[in-house]
This record gives sequence, C-alpha cells and structure tokens, in this order.
Amino acid sequence: MSAVQGRRREASGNTILQATGIKRVFGKGNAAVTALADIHLDIPAGSMVALKGRSGSGKTTLLNILSSLDEPTEGKVVFRGREITGLSSAERNALRRKEIGLVFQSFGLVPLMSAYENVEFGMRIAGKSLKDNREAVERALERVGMRERMKHRPTELSGGEQQRVAIARAIVHEPDLLIADEPTAELDSRMGLQVMRVFRELVQHSGMTVVMTTHDPGIMELVDHVIALEDGKIASYTSNESPLV
Ligand SMILES: Nc1ncnc2c1ncn2[C@@H]1O[C@H](COP(=O)(O)OP(=O)(O)OP(=O)(O)O)[C@@H](O)[C@H]1O
Ligand SMILES: [Mg+2]
Repeated sequence: MSAVQGRRREASGNTILQATGIKRVFGKGNAAVTALADIHLDIPAGSMVALKGRSGSGKTTLLNILSSLDEPTEGKVVFRGREITGLSSAERNALRRKEIGLVFQSFGLVPLMSAYENVEFGMRIAGKSLKDNREAVERALERVGMRERMKHRPTELSGGEQQRVAIARAIVHEPDLLIADEPTAELDSRMGLQVMRVFRELVQHSGMTVVMTTHDPGIMELVDHVIALEDGKIASYTSNESPLV
C-alpha cells in the first residue's frame, strides 16, 4: 500500500476548507479597494471546485486567502478543522509546503532543469528527505502521465505537458488540497482537458480536493461545484450532478 492510500483522508463530503465572513481591502483611505466582501463558503473534501467571474471579480484574491498566501482584512479560514488565518508567516509557509499544492497559470518550471529535476526541486522545498525522493518524484510524474518524459526540459514539452509537470511538482509531497489559479488559461482546449483529467484522477484516486479559478465556460461542466464571484461577492453556487470528466 502506498503512503497515499495508507494515509487517512477526510471522508468524501466532509468540509476540508471553510471561509467565514471574508473581507479583503487593499490600500487605505481614498485609494482603498474592496476586493472581497462577505464571503462564506464550504469546500467539500474530495471535490473539484471552480471559482469563476469576470476579470477583477476577486478570484485570485480569494484563492490566495484560501491557500494562506494572503491574509484577509476580516474573517477566518479553517483548513481541516484548524484556523489558518492569524498564523505567523513562518507557520503559513510551513502549512503550504507540507499540506497544500499550488499550480499557476504560467507553469513556473525552471527552464534549465529536466521534468524530473523540477519535481525533485519541489520535493526539496517541501523539506522531504533525499533518500525517498526518487520514488516519490517518479510516482508524481507517473500520476500526471509524464514519467516517460522525465528527462526532458520544459522547452521540449508542450504547454499541456509543462502544466502536468507543474502539477506533479505541486503534488509530490502528497497534499490533500491542490489550489490552481487559471491552470488552463494558457492551454488550448485539448490540453486544458488533459489537465482537467489529471485533476479528476487525483480527486478520484487520492481523495484530493482541487480548488481552481477559470474564465473558460467549458470547464464549468467538468467540475463538481462552481462558485461565481461578482464584484468580490459570491453571486451563485451551483453543483454538477454528473461532471463530464
Ligand atoms: N495587491 C493589490 N493591491 C490593490 N488592489 C488589488 C491588489 N490585488 C488585487 N487588487 C484588486 O482587487 C480586485 C480583485 O482582483 P483579483 O486579482 O482577485 O481578480 P481576478 O478575479 O483574479 O481577475 P483576473 O480574472 O483578471 O485574474 C481588482 O479590482 C484588483 O485590482
Ligand atoms: Mg486572477
């Protein structure tokens, strides 16, 4: 049994992440911008959730708060029963390194490193011991379908393949929560679908929870829940009974 299968996971349907009364104001006085207000949400464990909304509606701001990259002006975030707002920046860094995986629009791979080395680098950032690395890195690459290409550098890979390597890097420490800001925005629809299939596989077989943002209407049919933001507020929350991936 692998470490992933052996680890206790939240039962599907329990809340893994909860936000209550979130407000985020940038700047002060006349220049103040209220990016988020009155946000309440529950993210069920083992689900795929998409945040959608126009540019400037607050998607990235909310994702940053949910992943403890940023602190709200008001309100609290509880991750696996533990409040993560109000932690010190060292505690937040440790939380992200150990328990959360992050994926970005622009992949963020190191150009001179092979796919393997990029993922291994992620492992070292998570503070894992070197002796376990090879197996964990290869397993992560296998899970995104990139093990055969592990010696290739990012410039030798398509955008979709690069994003899958970036996902391998984000999951190599086996986090329960994967947070992805516009992970398919730079990909054509075929490659975007490959990335969404990888997310679905992680949700189904590892019980991971994926929270992502997107502009793409096609993605809405692939996730379990869609949260629509308008002007920093939640406008609607809808669920898909039968998502298409
Ligand atoms: N560091 C900051 N300082 C001041 N204002 C900010 C800052 N970050 C975001 N904002 C403002 O907060 C609002 C929400 O921005 P955010 O980046 O969350 O939007 P978004 O929905 O992710 O947009 P996009 O789809 O373009 O990525 C915008 O009005 C933005 O200008
Ligand atoms: Mg954004």
